[in-house]
Amino acid sequence: MSDTQAVVITDATPDDCDAIVRIHTASWRFTYRGSLRDEYLDGDIETAKYDQWSKRLAVPAINQKIFVARGNNTALGFACLYTHHNADKGHLLDAIHLDPSVKRVGIGSALFKAVVAYARTIPPAAGLHLYVNKSNSGAHRFYDAQGGVIIGAFDWHAPDGSVVPRLIYGWQADYLSHASAR
Ligand SMILES: CC(C)(COP(=O)(O)OP(=O)(O)OC[C@H]1O[C@@H](n2cnc3c(N)ncnc32)[C@H](O)[C@@H]1OP(=O)(O)O)[C@@H](O)C(=O)NCCC(=O)NCCS
Repeated sequence: MSDTQAVVITDATPDDCDAIVRIHTASWRFTYRGSLRDEYLDGDIETAKYDQWSKRLAVPAINQKIFVARGNNTALGFACLYTHHNADKGHLLDAIHLDPSVKRVGIGSALFKAVVAYARTIPPAAGLHLYVNKSNSGAHRFYDAQGGVIIGAFDWHAPDGSVVPRLIYGWQADYLSHASAR
């Protein structure tokens, strides 16, 4: 994709399932290499992802919102939000992934902005949080650039059987309520 190509963010529909599975699978294989076992990443992870996203798209939780970023009518990335997921930490950004070939041209920022703009419309005002692997330094720099701060840590029992250290990034409700001005 060229830097100048327009990116459009829309709500996901069940027709986006195959594209979301493709992007999620490619992103895990690229991003989690070295964190999750090679045998797992190189195996059939599509089936579990298809199961996950087909269910989410067919029978959405009442607080779920999935966004798709498209360029030239092709899905390039997605984000999945659960509003008011946690009484203290607020909304949960459960996933944000791009096709690895289109990183670092602003699509993640456009998705994040859409997530925040939507979250702000769902009262009461709340913060936002997400989980990120401790080794995923590129994503840390991205969340830093979006104004996030580290608010916790835990061990993730990953689906390949390994235990992966994770960080919790958070944004205060006050920060989100002024985010559109930034
Ligand atoms: C994380 C992700 C969504 C960010 O989206 P993106 O489109 O690549 O990021 P942007 O181009 O919008 O970057 C905005 C700013 O964030 C920072 N940033 C983003 N990625 C970075 C990286 N790898 N290294 C350093 N800084 C980075 C920069 O400040 C960047 O601004 P700049 O390019 O003008 O310097 C995307 O790279 C991705 O899908 N990564 C793989 C999956 C993943 O890790 N998801 C998160 C799981 S918790």
